Amino acid sequence: MSQDNATSAQSNGDALENLLHEGRQFPPSDEFAANAVAKPSVYDEAASEGTEFWARQARELLSWEQDFTQTLDWSEAPFAKWFIGGKVNAAYNALDRHVEAGNGSRVAINFEGEPGDVRRITYAELTDQVKQAANTIESLGVKKGDRVAIYLPMIPEAVISMLACARIGAVHSVVFGGFSSDALRNRIDDAEAKLVITADGTYRRGKPSPLKNAVDDALADGNSTVEHVLVVKRNEETVEWTEGRDLWWDKTVATASKDHTAVGHDSEHPLYVLYTSGTTGKPKGILHTTGGYLTQCAYTHKNVFDLKPETDVYWCAADIGWVTGHSYITYGPLLNGASIVMYEGTPDTPHQGRWWEIVEKYKVSILYAAPTAIRTMMKWGEDIPAKYNLSSLRVLGSVGEPINPEAWMWYRRVIGSDATPIVDTWWQTETGAIMISPLPGVTAAKPGAAQVPLPGINVDVVDESGESVPNGSGGYLVVREPWPAMLRGIWGDPERYKETYWSRFKDMYFAGDGAKRDEDGDIWLLGRVDDVMNISGHRLSTTEIESALVSHPSVAESAVVGATDETTGQAVVAFVILRGEAAEKVAAQGEDADTSEVVAELRNHVGKEIGPIAKPRQILVVSELPKTRSGKIMRRLLKDVAENREVGDVSTLADSSVMNQITQGLKK
Ligand code: PRX
Repeated sequence: MSQDNATSAQSNGDALENLLHEGRQFPPSDEFAANAVAKPSVYDEAASEGTEFWARQARELLSWEQDFTQTLDWSEAPFAKWFIGGKVNAAYNALDRHVEAGNGSRVAINFEGEPGDVRRITYAELTDQVKQAANTIESLGVKKGDRVAIYLPMIPEAVISMLACARIGAVHSVVFGGFSSDALRNRIDDAEAKLVITADGTYRRGKPSPLKNAVDDALADGNSTVEHVLVVKRNEETVEWTEGRDLWWDKTVATASKDHTAVGHDSEHPLYVLYTSGTTGKPKGILHTTGGYLTQCAYTHKNVFDLKPETDVYWCAADIGWVTGHSYITYGPLLNGASIVMYEGTPDTPHQGRWWEIVEKYKVSILYAAPTAIRTMMKWGEDIPAKYNLSSLRVLGSVGEPINPEAWMWYRRVIGSDATPIVDTWWQTETGAIMISPLPGVTAAKPGAAQVPLPGINVDVVDESGESVPNGSGGYLVVREPWPAMLRGIWGDPERYKETYWSRFKDMYFAGDGAKRDEDGDIWLLGRVDDVMNISGHRLSTTEIESALVSHPSVAESAVVGATDETTGQAVVAFVILRGEAAEKVAAQGEDADTSEVVAELRNHVGKEIGPIAKPRQILVVSELPKTRSGKIMRRLLKDVAENREVGDVSTLADSSVMNQITQGLKK
């Protein structure tokens, strides 16, 4: 880690220093605690049982076709194997067994489309539909171990496709529907996907929005590994059609046989690959396997959200394209037989009360959302949620980025009737499932802190040399012991896995996050200490956006920073040096050059290369970038500019006048 990043982590830390003396605590009510799934004794149990704690959860929460003979094999660390010898089918566990247990008529998915159309799908119906999809996918030549890219909006077919793949042992790779065709193609190529499942489109802000055209663009050269494209009809817009390659879902899946027997897959059989941003320009395919992942998803979903599947209605407002959607829309909830809500659209369509209308309509009892959404709703004003009956809510969750205490308090007071426990859950695409979180019936919650590792999880905060820090100090977040849902590697790149996560500290997983322990030993997350940004809870790397910018003919060089943003947590701010005609034009116009045209073009270019979420909030045209003598860009200084602060220490710059030039130039 560079000094530069360490310093910026430090400044984050300093800003949050006062929070570490947070005095407010919110213990669960006696009634909540008495009825809670998780009891205080669970921490001692997990500590004394060691990995057997997880073996017990695996057997209690899942139905194994064949029991495992060994809980953990860590002999080839950092490559873990969990529940060795076991055979288990994810789809059978999420579906068939609930039907066999007599719960087939329970609603699995309450789907609410953006235009207001609804679908209620019971466990029996969902099981049938997944069997049909599994039969169709198999008939298209997809076999166990083959990869299937899923590029779908938030519609039930996304869940159905994931489970159909899991059923037959195909490895799904869900690509967020907001990613561009280029980003989709990169992911298809890296995973060598044989099939893409997509939709004609979706609805966005009250209008039909296309999706399949991005798949067509991605596959336009005809040189990919993709043999077929399965297309769900969602918005009835006209689409281009490639005969022989493209198939409609409603002409294939909907008419396929409903007979399909699920067989158990090896516990370590790959379940999915999900791409996420790291510190380099190339997204990493995070690999998750079956037995351990399912166990921790089911355990955490049940205990962290205090799930009572017979009575709760659970809504995770994330997108299926992110890990939160994988673990807490599809796998965790359905393994536990929960009734979920799935919503297709944006929170302000057709009005800013849409979320709360949905909570009232479905009597949602557990809501899991990102701080950026909470802060947006705060801005819209509390009179909006006040119009709805939110009394069904009994647990609120937060995920994806640090939740500031103010937003936490608002969430509890305005949404949670000043009574519901809030669980601030820390985890990552790589960890597969929640790692640090209060347990709602046990922990006295503190606004803004994820607080405690879950039972069976060994997390620590360490200093530069890997020593645990004392209470009241900060450092780096690490995981000291393997955990069941941990990533098993980076698709096709075992070395990068070792290098990225296991080389910074000996025998510890380095998460990339800064953290502090408060006086009580509770953990506070302080944001990333590497070049990863967190924009509205979406993970993007500075390098990824820099690469997108320099791929434009007008850009000679660029540097991107994540600047603090009141609503989105961080926002992308880019500094670019122009070249070619654009540079000449700006130079010819002199000091007052109007760069708005090129800036607009560059923003769109980033949108096209990666997706709209990556579009910089601001692009500043500069003539130089601040670099150290070894040529490394000092993003810390650019961050000072982007956040309107006094520029920090410039003594390590090769040319210390550069920052002056930048700030002077921008003032003009
Ligand atoms: O920086 C942490 C932040 O999100 C990163 C992981 O991003 P991703 O893999 O996209 O997964 C997000 C959903 C699990 C982490 O390294 N993060 C996640 N949850 C929290 C958080 N930061 C603070 N508090 C959290 N509760």
